[in-house]
Amino acid sequence: MNPTFSGPSFAAGFFCNAACDAFLFSIFIVFVNSGGGITNVGVGAAQVVWSANRDHPVREKASLQFTEDGDLVLRDSDGTLVWSTNTSGKSVVAMSITESGNLVLFDSKNTSVWQSFDHPTDSLVPGQSMREGMRLTANISTTNWTYSPLYLTVLADGLYAFVDSSPPQLYTKHLITGSKPDNNSTYLTFVNGSLSLFTKPGKPEVSIPLPWARSVQYIRLESDGQLRLYEYDTSDQGQAWHKVKDLFSDMKAYCDHPTACGEYGICTEGQCSCPPGNNFRQIDDRQVKFGCAPVIPLSCQSIQHHQLLTLNDVSYFLYFNTAPDYDRMSEESCKQTCLKNCSCKAALFQSWDGNSSDGNCHLPSQLFSLQTNQPAKTHYNSSAYIKVQIIPPSPGPSPNSSPLLEVKRNSTTGIIIGVTLGITATILVIISFFVRRKCNQVDEEEYFDQVPGMPTRFTFEELKEASENFSEKLGEGGFGSVFEGKIGNERVAIKRLDAFNQGEKQFLAEVETIGSIHHINLVRLIGFCAEKMHKLLVYEYMCNGSLDKWIFYKDQTVPLDWQTRCKIITGIAKGLAYLHEECRQRIAHLDIKPQNILLDDKFNAEVADFGLAKLIERDQSQVMTMMRGTPGYLAPEWLTSMITEKVDIYSFGVVIVEIVCGRRNLDYSQSNENIPLISLLKDKM
Ligand SMILES: *[C@@H]1O[C@H](CO)[C@@H](O)[C@H](O)[C@H]1NC(C)=O
Ligand SMILES: *[C@@H]1O[C@H](CO)[C@@H](O)[C@H](O)[C@H]1NC(C)=O
Ligand SMILES: *[C@@H]1O[C@H](CO)[C@@H](O)[C@H](O)[C@H]1NC(C)=O
Repeated sequence: MNPTFSGPSFAAGFFCNAACDAFLFSIFIVFVNSGGGITNVGVGAAQVVWSANRDHPVREKASLQFTEDGDLVLRDSDGTLVWSTNTSGKSVVAMSITESGNLVLFDSKNTSVWQSFDHPTDSLVPGQSMREGMRLTANISTTNWTYSPLYLTVLADGLYAFVDSSPPQLYTKHLITGSKPDNNSTYLTFVNGSLSLFTKPGKPEVSIPLPWARSVQYIRLESDGQLRLYEYDTSDQGQAWHKVKDLFSDMKAYCDHPTACGEYGICTEGQCSCPPGNNFRQIDDRQVKFGCAPVIPLSCQSIQHHQLLTLNDVSYFLYFNTAPDYDRMSEESCKQTCLKNCSCKAALFQSWDGNSSDGNCHLPSQLFSLQTNQPAKTHYNSSAYIKVQIIPPSPGPSPNSSPLLEVKRNSTTGIIIGVTLGITATILVIISFFVRRKCNQVDEEEYFDQVPGMPTRFTFEELKEASENFSEKLGEGGFGSVFEGKIGNERVAIKRLDAFNQGEKQFLAEVETIGSIHHINLVRLIGFCAEKMHKLLVYEYMCNGSLDKWIFYKDQTVPLDWQTRCKIITGIAKGLAYLHEECRQRIAHLDIKPQNILLDDKFNAEVADFGLAKLIERDQSQVMTMMRGTPGYLAPEWLTSMITEKVDIYSFGVVIVEIVCGRRNLDYSQSNENIPLISLLKDKM
């Protein structure tokens, strides 16, 4: 390990899911600050960029073995072979991770025998290439590692993204414009500034320009089908991964994604629904975005009971990417052709002038999301005729007894922590922490409104007005932005949560918990808003803002006197003691730092944002939500054992040291060895 190395590096190890009961052997990007001490490792910052057999996570006591004959073998706890590099007998003698994140097995002549870059999963890191035929396959979601049907592949004449079905359905492409010379193989390379297709070294055939990297970047094919560039933001405030760019520029709106609303779903201005009528039902009763399924499954045995359900003014992504199965066909023949062919699931007819005798006919064998036409933007007529089974085949199971396909959702949160080691191969066990929430079965809205002493429920309009259209921004935190507002005569702070993907019931349950906690050293929740996408929390206003504005000499000319500092420290301690010991449900804050300590006009300290760690769902399209804690304030046990509320005490200790010393624990304006205050103090001691 190079002790002065700072910032992103790659590590390999077992990465676990939210509940930490399933593990992947993975390569991930992690951070170590100067000194390399474990106190300086960024939680939540680690991003998996490669893993071995994602489809088969292993359990505790699984093993990764580098065998005597040179094979790297992953076995589950019961001994099942899960994955192997299949390199036995190839004289492998060593293994290492390169600085660019490639896991390489070498023979005695130091030539590479196997490398992870040749087996990409869903991500690319700078310097990585994909040869013709290689694929990136998206996960179902960030918490579910199963393969989704979406994949990206390099073919001889360009880069293609498909939804897997038979045949695959193309949803976007980037083609090489010039003629392609014969023998050369096409490859895709990701470097600082571009993602380019080459047919020979030198000038790329076609490039997607990327913003210059300010720090470490990676590209991932995501569960929504978008190819997304991420970058680690190292600015002093919210250190976190950020989305920088969506590389498929033709997929701007939510509804443009081929699986936006799952199979048979209809996407209308970002909202999903099932086809009208009784022929379809939601696969997941809580979330329609997981798609719909026919109530009576289609059966090729009783093709005489197939009918077509008409949907006018809807489009399908194949229109824009693929030649129709039949062109210059009449609408009627298109429908009949579908009815005669059992593998056809829908007849999609598109014409340019509303002429039903001459148009394009697509007959997909699997129907993904349809999109409602936007009259102003659509310059063609298009309809979908979805095949349904009106009478079940007999004899056969009745529709009610047939097993329903369920999409399982994982509502747990994950945190991962890594330690980096430079180039030497190192296997680390990564732990995770989770908060599992129970779904409240009580019907939320009415129930909630009736509970006395609970925070007030506001409409979005009311809060918009109270904050004068969110014009006065007070600050920005890990979970969203805070605005000043006024309700009646009371000044309030309105927190607008981003990255919010949690169900209504869960949100209300958490708000109820937070709202029921009252202590003079805890910021009071006055109200909330839960309306469709909008989730807001209304807090009491603290006129002296957050502690970080007051304690760092660098920013503040007049330092706080010792008495005030002592009062603040005592206040935080009382607030934490209440959360940990005295309230009905023990609450770990998980992100104690000066930004989360607010001060009133008399410099009384109140802890803010408690309970939020539980409240934010981790549907991981938003990487931010992986964050639990902030570098510089993380307790060492994040690396080694179960997490309890005591991690707050460690963070509190760091805050005390900061208050006393008048500088940040991680102060990047210092010379390298002086950046972490805590290590510096240990050395001096
Ligand atoms: C990427 O390239 C730009 C322009 O040459 C440079 O300023 C930047 O530092 C580079 N980024 C990284 C992470 O190397
Ligand atoms: C039936 O439709 C599928 C696609 O839906 C197509 O691949 C196949 O060729 C069709 N079969 C016939 C006989 O037309
Ligand atoms: C669709 O067809 C009708 C006639 O059937 C026509 O009036 C209408 O303008 C067409 N819409 C578009 C968007 O072309």
